[in-house]
Amino acid sequence: MVSLLENPFRVGLQQDRIPEPQILVIFGASGDLTQRKLVPALYQMKRERRLPPELTIVGVSRSDWSHDFFRDHMREGVEEFGGGIGNEAVWQDFARSLFYCPGNIDQTESYHKLKAFLSELDEQRGTRGNRVFYLSVAPRFFGEATQQLGNAGMLLEPTKQRLVIEKPFGKDLATARVLNRVVQAVCREDQIYRIDHYLGKETVQNLMVFRFANAIFEPLWNRQFVDHVQITVSETVGLEGRAGYYETAGALRDMVQNHLMQLFCLTAMEAPNSLEADSIRNEKVKVLQATRLAHLDDIAQSAVRGQYAPGWMKGHQVPGYRDEEGASATSTTPTYAALKLAVDNWRWKGVPFYMRTGKRMPKKVSEISIHFKEVPFMMFQSAAKQLNHNVLALRIQPDEGISMRFEVKTPGNSLRTRSVEMDFRYDAAFGAQNTDAYGRLLVDCMLGDQTLFTRGDEVEASWRLLTPLLEVWDAPADPAAIPLYEAGTWGPVEAELLLNRDDRRWRRL
Ligand code: BG6
Repeated sequence: MVSLLENPFRVGLQQDRIPEPQILVIFGASGDLTQRKLVPALYQMKRERRLPPELTIVGVSRSDWSHDFFRDHMREGVEEFGGGIGNEAVWQDFARSLFYCPGNIDQTESYHKLKAFLSELDEQRGTRGNRVFYLSVAPRFFGEATQQLGNAGMLLEPTKQRLVIEKPFGKDLATARVLNRVVQAVCREDQIYRIDHYLGKETVQNLMVFRFANAIFEPLWNRQFVDHVQITVSETVGLEGRAGYYETAGALRDMVQNHLMQLFCLTAMEAPNSLEADSIRNEKVKVLQATRLAHLDDIAQSAVRGQYAPGWMKGHQVPGYRDEEGASATSTTPTYAALKLAVDNWRWKGVPFYMRTGKRMPKKVSEISIHFKEVPFMMFQSAAKQLNHNVLALRIQPDEGISMRFEVKTPGNSLRTRSVEMDFRYDAAFGAQNTDAYGRLLVDCMLGDQTLFTRGDEVEASWRLLTPLLEVWDAPADPAAIPLYEAGTWGPVEAELLLNRDDRRWRRL
């Protein structure tokens, strides 16, 4: 039998090649993402010798910066948010590959100026017309920037010119469809890289290996053995000065539609035929199409929203969402969302998938847990009041690892059972890893590998699934009707009820 991992036709999830010389153009270069994530990740890739020596990075934004100012600003980013500069000579070499080109995203002249500058750089640095255009700008500019790049003739060669689009891709199904049409009119689908940084996380990729490179789990991975699945992505941070964006996004658009849906897809999808990008993406689309909110006739039974109120985090008092800078005092934006999904297919019919995400929660944790069914007949007494199911937990972050909970006999004369955990920890097995999701995804994009990027129909399928909920949550609401939870707690009490109604509980993390 040919395994996915030995398949000679594989292209995805492989990083042993070095990309062709190219120019990475970052629109929105004066923004946070560039300084905190993108450039530090690229520098790390440079230190690991995963980049071609000719790689050239051009920052574009409205600020009137010089090349040197941009280089200094990026250096600060690497020092503060990356792994530090390390060898000064490596930084100097990297800094020489950084350039800045001021420009307005909505002005045609800026694109002509950029095009001429990139041609000059091709001569100077040997980048041969290969380009990645990264749109790290406000989502309302995604369409316009793509059209302008197209009109300026910068996306004409599908094998040499690629476009990366940050999230959120649209704000509902209708806008995602329009945006897809706009970008697909300019680019071929194989030029478009819709980024979701969760897919670049090591343990998210390990989910596939865990499921499809081990013979023992897959036979259990279905309605016959699984009672339900929980997906949690909790964060301790609050609004972080992003009111302008977050007020119109909220937890559903910011986290659920993209990051949590990706975790869901990789957990619930069927085995792909190969590791080729489209093979995997076909399976993700299929499972999304089979999925719906559990109770379409009663949204309140399928989903709970919440917003953080003032509270305490690690001994510090923190403001409530409505008191954060830039947030409206009567805001109804959810900072917490919990959903119950049903999957109508042979594998999962009748197995609920519960997902939750929130800001200002007690811990930063991302975890997928598979809760197995109870034994058909229990002849032992349990030390716990309630019998514990076997649980397989896949921890995405932090403390990446996998644990399995099962029952054992407590020592002594009586025949009583207790739950214990068998734990695999990445750091213990492989040492501390420093793989940044953005670095991996940027290199994949430069290599032309779309496996870890979202396809157009996949984004639409995930918006489609959330549409009935968005219609209810987007309707004007009385601020008093939004359940509040104290910062530093696990969300509103209504979220507990979502599971209690089904005689289940959220896993304690
Ligand atoms: C981003 C969201 O996509 O993901 C943020 O916009 C969120 O609101 C972040 O904080 C979480 O990412 P990570 O990698 O820290 O889990």
